[in-house]
Amino acid sequence: MLNVLVCVSGGGTNLQAILDRIADGTISHARVVRVISNNPGVYALERAKKAGIPAKVISPKSYPDREVFNEALLRGIREADPDLIVLAGFLVAIPPQVIRAYPGKIINIHPALIPSFCGKGFYGIRVHEKALERGVRVTGATVHFVDEGMDSGPIILQKAVDIPQGISAADLQQKVMKEAEWVILPRAVELIAEGRVKLEDGHVTILERQA
Ligand code: GAR
Repeated sequence: MLNVLVCVSGGGTNLQAILDRIADGTISHARVVRVISNNPGVYALERAKKAGIPAKVISPKSYPDREVFNEALLRGIREADPDLIVLAGFLVAIPPQVIRAYPGKIINIHPALIPSFCGKGFYGIRVHEKALERGVRVTGATVHFVDEGMDSGPIILQKAVDIPQGISAADLQQKVMKEAEWVILPRAVELIAEGRVKLEDGHVTILERQA
């Protein structure tokens, strides 16, 4: 059984998607052992509580500087002893010491088709505003491994979503979540739990299911 730590910052709908797929048996080789939020009072913490999952708030505001926060975050992660760390809308730059401690064991969901609309400043609703501004007809979501760059790690899964004319950024955000994020994030967790995600030389191969 793969022990998963989920890091969140807000509403936690991606956390919920993972919990729902565990509850209905779609994910059968993984369990969520802990949730970490950098923000107190967010609904994601309520979702963890409802599912009976221990949650911890590690907020940069509670520490004198970024380095002390980074160390606290690493300690919080180590306490959970996870096999996999899922950044499910975790809007904090992952410190290099965390990446080095968990190489190939951190994944992130991004609400666009990387390498479009990603990198510095591209998070949450802004991603969709930028996609609409550019007038692209297709967007989507990407699950990727986290490396020391921003949204630059090896891609595991992507799913495209058509952009209807005249849609608002808020409605597009919902559409991308529903049609792409809540599908591919739980799927990636299950594939990793089944040992079917091979990471080699910065590229991912999805292995066939063993007969
Ligand atoms: C999601 O759309 C996720 O893809 C995005 O934040 C949202 C969190 O929603 N993440 C990023 O933009 C990371 N660059 P949630 O809290 O309801 O899962």
